[in-house]
This record gives sequence, C-alpha cells and structure tokens, in this order.
Amino acid sequence: MTWGSKLGGTEGIARIIAEVLEHQGFEVVAQRASEVRDVSGHDAAIIGGALYANRWHRDARRLVMRNVAALRRIPVWLFSSGPLDDSADRRTLPTPSQVAALIERIGARGHTTFGGRLPADARGFPAAAMARQHSGDWRNPERIRTWAADVAGIIPDARPGVAHEPPGRSLPRLLAHGVAAWALCAATMAGLLRLTSTGVAIAAHAVLAPLIFTVLAVRYFQVRGARDPVPTALIWTAIVLLLDAAVVAGAIQRDLAMFTSLTGTWLPLTLGFLATWLTGFILSTKPWPRPTPRSDTTTHAHPTRLAH
Ligand SMILES: Cc1cc2nc3c(=O)[nH]c(=O)nc-3n(C[C@H](O)[C@H](O)[C@H](O)COP(=O)(O)O)c2cc1C
Repeated sequence: MTWGSKLGGTEGIARIIAEVLEHQGFEVVAQRASEVRDVSGHDAAIIGGALYANRWHRDARRLVMRNVAALRRIPVWLFSSGPLDDSADRRTLPTPSQVAALIERIGARGHTTFGGRLPADARGFPAAAMARQHSGDWRNPERIRTWAADVAGIIPDARPGVAHEPPGRSLPRLLAHGVAAWALCAATMAGLLRLTSTGVAIAAHAVLAPLIFTVLAVRYFQVRGARDPVPTALIWTAIVLLLDAAVVAGAIQRDLAMFTSLTGTWLPLTLGFLATWLTGFILSTKPWPRPTPRSDTTTHAHPTRLAH
C-alpha cells in the first residue's frame, strides 16, 4: 500500500485500506510513494494519489513510472483522492487522463476516486486561498472500507491485468514532433530572410517559433499517454539544437556563428521550450467538479471527519 500525498488526506485513506487488508489477514507494507524504490517482491499493490489540478501527485506518478515492469507482473489497484464535495460518493467520476494512461501502461485491475480533504488552515499557495472557500473533509470511511474489502476479496485469485503502452507515448511520435518543430522554424526563418531584413526576420522568428512549438504541443499532448511536459520540451529543444548544428550551421552555413546570436538562436529556443512545457502542463489539467452545495437529502452529503 503506497501513496502520494501533500497534505496528509490521501495518506489517511491509504492507512484505512491497509488496516482493512491487515484485518483480513494480509501482510501489508504501507509506505509513502517517495520512499518506495522497488515494488518487486510484493504479491499485489494498491497505489493512491492526491489530485491537484486533475494531476496525480508527483510521488505516486513517479513510483509507477520507475516500476512499470514490476507492476505489470502483479495485480494493481489505483485510487485517486480529491473532490471537495460529495461527487465521488454520488457517481463514478471520470478517471483523470494522466491516471488513465498509467492504468493502461501497467494494466491496473481497477481505479476509484474518493472524496478529499482540505484543512481550513492549509498553508501555501494556492491551497490556503482555496481553503477559504472549499475546506472540509469529504473522505468517506465507510466507502473506503467497502472498496478495500472488495479488493481484499479479489486479491488471492487476482492475476495481473493486460498492460500496453498508450499510443500517445510512442518514441517515434515524440521525435517526429521535435523534427517537425525544427523544420517549421527553419522554413519560417528562411522565408522571412527572403522577405525582409535580417533584423526583422530575427525578431519575427522569435515570435513565431514559440507559436509553432505551441501548435505542435497541442497536437502532441492531446493524445493520451503523451510523455511528461518537461522531458518532452527538453527533447524537442535538443532536437532543434542538434539539427541546427548539423544542417543549418554545419551543412548550409559552414559556420557556427548562429550560436553566438542570443535573439536569433537562444531566445526562440528558450521560448519554444517554455511554450511546450506550459502547453503540456495546461493540457494535462482538466476541469474538475465544482463543490456542490451541501444537501441533507443525499446519503453522504456531510463531510466526515477522519482521524489521522
Ligand atoms: C490547489 C489545489 C488543487 C486541487 N485540485 C483538485 C483537482 O483537480 N481535483 C480534485 O478532485 N481535487 C483537487 N483538489 C483537492 C485535493 O485533491 C484534496 O484536498 C486532497 O484530499 C489532497 O490530498 P492530500 O491531503 O493527500 O494532499 C485540489 C486541492 C488544492 C489545494
């Protein structure tokens, strides 16, 4: 049993699940995701992640990424914790796209979303600002225990699920987009140099390059399973640099002078990196359910306090 949690709410859920499993006779190792290096040696895994801007907590995500092979060999269940309202108890919430891609990669047997908790005295930005309006404990111990008992009932006969790499993750796809970014930027620069003075061409290119990266990033990150924004931005920037060095400086200009130009080379490259990163980040966050007004008519309408 492992979890990625910032403010402790998800840890509370994980500890309830561990307790239920132990009660049913399982030997449970419960550990923060950041402390788990290797999951091999376990017969099953349950991994929980807090949701922030519809993204799974980084520790949970990284744990899965560094243990893909080992997790494919055992049955795995995932849970998310987040909504600061009773929506998780009332209906099955859509799986965040990032989590859906992880489920596919490791062949997880199941996923559910539990309500979250935001302490009224949460500190830091933007949690403190959000806590002024949305603080409360929407974790539902009864539902958590029921889910854990269901999983406990399945574990003894469970086999690993069917795993496959989501198409969005393909390496050729990642590299092709990087090469396209370089080709479009180079063609734009060549066209501008024909049409106008060098100074104007350099300025226009510095504006158009990040736009080109943004358009390609939208296309790339829209597909589920796309790689994380930072490595993607780094790889695309490296591809542009390499092709600039080999083709433009090496084969065409036969001179490395272009790399001494801050506005001609390094500014558009930096802006392209930032545009890719930002676009990837924004697309990985999707709107999440707004808290609904409390109502006495629904079973779990009141926040339930959990000891933690
Ligand atoms: C800045 C911020 C963004 C959040 N974004 C989401 C979200 O996108 N979806 C969601 O269901 N809950 C969201 N929440 C609620 C948290 O997931 C909830 O507080 C959760 O219980 C936190 O888990 P932790 O205490 O383990 O860190 C957000 C909370 C904060 C403070």
